[in-house]
Amino acid sequence: MSNQSSSSDTNVHAKTQTREKPWGGRFTEPTDAFVERFTASVEFDKRLYFHDIQGSVAHATMLADVGVLTAAERDDIIAGLTEIREEIERGEFVWSVSLEDVHMNIEARLTAKIGITGKKLHTGRSRNDQVATDIRLYLRDEIDVIAEELTRLQEGLISLAEREAGTIMPGFTHLQTAQPVTFGHHILAWNEMIQRDYERLQDCRKRVNILPLGAAALAGTTYPIDRTITVRLLGFDRPSENSLDSVSDRDFAIEFCAFASLLMTHLSRFSEELVLWTSSQFNFVNLPDRFCTGSSIMPQKKNPDVPELVRGKSGRVNGHLIALLTLMKGQPLAYNKDNQEDKEPLFDAIDTVKGCLKAYADMVPSIEVKADSMREAAKRGFSTATDLADYLVVKGMPFRDAHEVVGKAVGYGVQSGLDLADMSLEKLQEFSEIITADVFDVLTLEGSVNARNHIGGTAPAQVIAAVGRARSYIAGR
Ligand code: ARG
Repeated sequence: MSNQSSSSDTNVHAKTQTREKPWGGRFTEPTDAFVERFTASVEFDKRLYFHDIQGSVAHATMLADVGVLTAAERDDIIAGLTEIREEIERGEFVWSVSLEDVHMNIEARLTAKIGITGKKLHTGRSRNDQVATDIRLYLRDEIDVIAEELTRLQEGLISLAEREAGTIMPGFTHLQTAQPVTFGHHILAWNEMIQRDYERLQDCRKRVNILPLGAAALAGTTYPIDRTITVRLLGFDRPSENSLDSVSDRDFAIEFCAFASLLMTHLSRFSEELVLWTSSQFNFVNLPDRFCTGSSIMPQKKNPDVPELVRGKSGRVNGHLIALLTLMKGQPLAYNKDNQEDKEPLFDAIDTVKGCLKAYADMVPSIEVKADSMREAAKRGFSTATDLADYLVVKGMPFRDAHEVVGKAVGYGVQSGLDLADMSLEKLQEFSEIITADVFDVLTLEGSVNARNHIGGTAPAQVIAAVGRARSYIAGR
């Protein structure tokens, strides 16, 4: 804008600019150019266009059903909105920052297309209940996409577990070798976490799927609206109970971000293990080249970039959860402009989760297991020491004494470089005379894992049974 324009020019400009705004009636000067950009959300909320139109079509249909609009007005509005949706999808729609947000951009275009009837669409509604409806519709669709990706990831994990049900690796506590486990059992631990994430997502969906439309600005509307009609048209479970709550709370988005944070925490832990396991120090698994990248200076490098990036992205999703909690905490009832800030964290949490899930669901089935290397590692760290103690207990020794005896045997093993299974019977008998030749059955890796044969245990037979149960949970979705 030119500083040199005369005051009469400015007035003319003010009039046209304020008249452009759907709320411009009481204003006598145009919005400051910076404030206009600062308060606009169209750059990011235009992604709600599809659901904004979906909500508007239902609203217009309901208004006609209750006699607030005529059937012809309804039809004009729906036809106009449908054309606008197509314009947006063809990339022809001109978004205007001066029209602030997705809602006013679409409404202004509707009026430009169909004339005065376009101005009737907003009857009995406010942008406050409109935006709350749009976000819920949008999030509901994204939840369903994410749920499918979670299922795809779980299917990959379950098949990998089945394939590797009998593959033995060291199990860790404190990242120190603890007891032998099967790789299938380890992978099913990840499936359990993702299963709970799935359940949390479905639980969140129940609270997303409530219709706020009808709350209007905050107190409801004087028109004879019938919210059961919009509930039915938009596939919601029920209308919200309280108009003030409907337009103001974003707890459903916070809940989604809490789900997303937990999921990302799980994927981040999984990533950490893949990063460790692909290192030459562990050498437990190989990730196909298509999920890795190289180094521009060190020719030998193959880096597990996908797991590393997923681990890193968990930080930004946690940040979005905290952003939304903080956004909400100081707000008095009902709607405040603060809530416009709900979108970018929510959208980015959705995008990030979808990207990470796609990468993992694609990658998991192609994890190549280095069974020999895992087995060697399991043999190294005295992983059957507990089995030896249990063996002594079965033979009548109190557990604390058995612990002491095995501790001595391990001490000797550390000194001599021998694993328990490599020691002679005579040597083992120096630690306790009750040890006999059958001790070698429990000192083998297979003996150790097979002995843990109960629901939730690591025995290959239990892994196969757990795979069956996990598949039937998924089949029931
Ligand atoms: N762009 C706004 C948002 O995202 C829409 C609602 C604005 N309502 C209002 N009364 N200013 O929250």
